[in-house]
Amino acid sequence: MARGERRRRAVQAEGARTVERTARGGPGRRDGRVDGPRGTAGGAAMAVVVLVLALGVSGRWMLAWHRARRAITLHSAPPALSPDSSSPAVAPDLFWGTYRPHVYFGMKTRSPKPLLTGLMWAQQGATPGTPKLRHTCEQGDGVGPYGWEFHDGLSFGRQHIQDGALRLTTEFVKRPGGQHGGDWSWRVTVEPQASATSAFPLVSLFFYVVTDGQEVLLPEVGAKGQLKFISGHTSELGDFRFTLLPPTSPGDIAPKYGSYNVFWSSNPGLPLLTELVKSRLNSWFQHRPPGTSPERYLGLPGSLKWEEKDPSGQGQGQGQFLIQQVTLKVPFSMEFVFESGSAHTGGNQALGQLAGSLLTQALESHIDNFRERFEKIFRLKEKGLSPGEQALGQVALSGLLGGIGYFYGQSLVLPDVGGEGSEQKVDPALFPPLPLFSGVPSRSFFPRGFLWDEGFHQLVVQRWDPHLTREVLGHWLGLLNADGWIGREQILGDEARARVPPEFLVQRAAHANPPTLLLPVDHMLEGGDPADLAFLHRAFPRLHAWFSWLHKSQAGPVPLSYRWRGRDPALPTLLNPKTLPSGLDDYPRASHPSATERHLDLRCWVALGARVLSQLAERLGESEAAAELGPLVASLGAQESLDELHWAPELGVFADFGNHTRAVQLKPRPPQGLVRVVGWPLPRLQYVDALGYVTLFPLLLRLLEPKSSRLGPLLDVLSDSRHLWSPFGLRSLAASSSFYSQRNSEHDPPYWRGAVWLNVNYLALGALHHYGHLEGPHQAQAAKLYRELRANVVGNVWRQYQATGFLWEQYSDRDGRGMGCRPFHGWTSLVLLVMAEDY
Ligand SMILES: *[C@@H]1O[C@H](CO)[C@@H](O)[C@H](O)[C@H]1NC(C)=O
Repeated sequence: MARGERRRRAVQAEGARTVERTARGGPGRRDGRVDGPRGTAGGAAMAVVVLVLALGVSGRWMLAWHRARRAITLHSAPPALSPDSSSPAVAPDLFWGTYRPHVYFGMKTRSPKPLLTGLMWAQQGATPGTPKLRHTCEQGDGVGPYGWEFHDGLSFGRQHIQDGALRLTTEFVKRPGGQHGGDWSWRVTVEPQASATSAFPLVSLFFYVVTDGQEVLLPEVGAKGQLKFISGHTSELGDFRFTLLPPTSPGDIAPKYGSYNVFWSSNPGLPLLTELVKSRLNSWFQHRPPGTSPERYLGLPGSLKWEEKDPSGQGQGQGQFLIQQVTLKVPFSMEFVFESGSAHTGGNQALGQLAGSLLTQALESHIDNFRERFEKIFRLKEKGLSPGEQALGQVALSGLLGGIGYFYGQSLVLPDVGGEGSEQKVDPALFPPLPLFSGVPSRSFFPRGFLWDEGFHQLVVQRWDPHLTREVLGHWLGLLNADGWIGREQILGDEARARVPPEFLVQRAAHANPPTLLLPVDHMLEGGDPADLAFLHRAFPRLHAWFSWLHKSQAGPVPLSYRWRGRDPALPTLLNPKTLPSGLDDYPRASHPSATERHLDLRCWVALGARVLSQLAERLGESEAAAELGPLVASLGAQESLDELHWAPELGVFADFGNHTRAVQLKPRPPQGLVRVVGWPLPRLQYVDALGYVTLFPLLLRLLEPKSSRLGPLLDVLSDSRHLWSPFGLRSLAASSSFYSQRNSEHDPPYWRGAVWLNVNYLALGALHHYGHLEGPHQAQAAKLYRELRANVVGNVWRQYQATGFLWEQYSDRDGRGMGCRPFHGWTSLVLLVMAEDY
């Protein structure tokens, strides 16, 4: 989605969260449940009805009402995935997972009412006052680098986390069996940082279990306050049991002394867990292993006592929160074991607990398999990449897979009731509650689904596990509304919502986003895997509806031109009103937004979409759709049409068209601050003189014939260091542009105005590889540029990873530095496919 907005938004979210908490009067209230937007839905519908009646049911209002209803009505095509596809009966292997990407370590079930587990930790006595309690991934909490060294998206993972003087390793392994998703085990190891000089610190780990409904948890506590086990039952999981094993020294089996605290209450609401724990820590406790002097620590209450967090007494059905604190000296290891009742009945009664050496063996064999499969698929070693680069590739893949989450909830949607500039006002309404199984761009900053990011994510995921990609695509297509629209940012459920300020929650049903999900679909078509084709057969009506909506709703002023709806209004404080739906946010467009605009990138996306949909229709024997799409593909593919609408002879490249002047500047005007000043020449209808990613789109999406006379000029722009070429990859906007590195307003730093982005560099490399292999006048040039660009991109991502331990959202075109948020295992993970030369 709109990333500039994202960034600003996330910063505001930090503040908003604090305010929200205070306003809600502490943890007793359930976020967004009690008085949440459910009321707004009814309210919105009611408001529309009242207005309709008041105005005498005029035709115009009836139409608006109808449109508003459709915006929040689900599409009627059969689902691409069966409704029970996430259930433990149908998909036991995917029922449990690390589907909470925004916590450092946690697991949950793929369920609207999940059972959740998680880890918090704190170093005791390091700083005076309250210890820093670690739980959710935060950009500014000083933790890091962190990330998955291995994660196969299915059955195991190993993550390393640096936290000051501590080094944590979190591992999990799943073991299939029974009818309820099987068993799993965790191992958490805490060691002093190699460089740490002080005495071994005292550390608390907090293991918790949360239920979200009527489920039963029955804790059994030992004499020292330690939970011997928690047994429980839910309708989806049947009977189960958690066991927290005694701590040991790493790699040892002799138990190590630990102090135990425990806390049990009703579930305060997932976004409030950290605060609740912080508020219950007190300093009455002493850690005193035999023969040592006691040491004070902050702990939860010492004994198990149920606390009702909801004073209204309606806590029943809200679920439970049970947390065990273990405090001890590093280094140590702890294991937390989940056993599913049905996996241990009948002939499996003797199945040993997945702990200790059995767990070590399971982890080792998973790691061996991972390495072997990784090389078989990506062939980095065979291609001569260094061991370090191979490790980077594994980390890129693992971080992406470990970022996959399962979300459930309702979006807020602003219906499109009558075109831009319409005076008719409607309130946002609630979309039906839906699940989303999806990757995320960044665990710390954007831990939720973003439409155009996801297409890039799945390009990587499908190479590793095509089944996962089908699951993810199926979920996204489940979000389709009656018109064929999918919201570009999915903020589903309390935890996701708590991270976004209210004014940014609303998705607009008139706004599109690049249809990148068609990129993995295209790859499926090429591969021809029968399971993929069967999936595409079920998904076709939805893909078709989605594409048709894009093609129709974003149609431009003249045939075969297209225009992104939803540019920012031309406020005096903005240098160039942004185009968030395009995904390229502040990339400069026509200086004066108008309905006469023609957007080159959108036209290219539609051309790609038409081609993929038409090939799909032919392959699947959808003759009606094929007949309808064929002529569109031909018209969009015709070089003359692209030339006529987008070739700018005065610029010598393809370009956007609109009401434009280059004579705009931000100037200080006290007291308003920076204000846009329009000089001479005045805006007029013309091609937009910005060289950058948009210029390259006909090349990026391989829409030009290899012998096209237009290829040469694009390759020249791409390879010229005054324009797009940098030693670190292609920059988003030419260094020669007057917008290069310019802020868009006083509060809005440059975003797509020079920085190097991996998603577009991946497309460019794919295109250069393509033209370098096809006969034509530019074959040799394309092949040479391909080799150099690949070396630049891989080299820089690798150097930045070595220096910081992170993959980054974007990279500086001046010094290669990682910028924006981190870790960013979304489309930056495409570096793996670049190393593998798989486009
Ligand atoms: C271009 O924008 C200017 C300033 O808003 C306006 O006065 C002019 O009429 C516009 N021209 C066209 C052709 O739309």
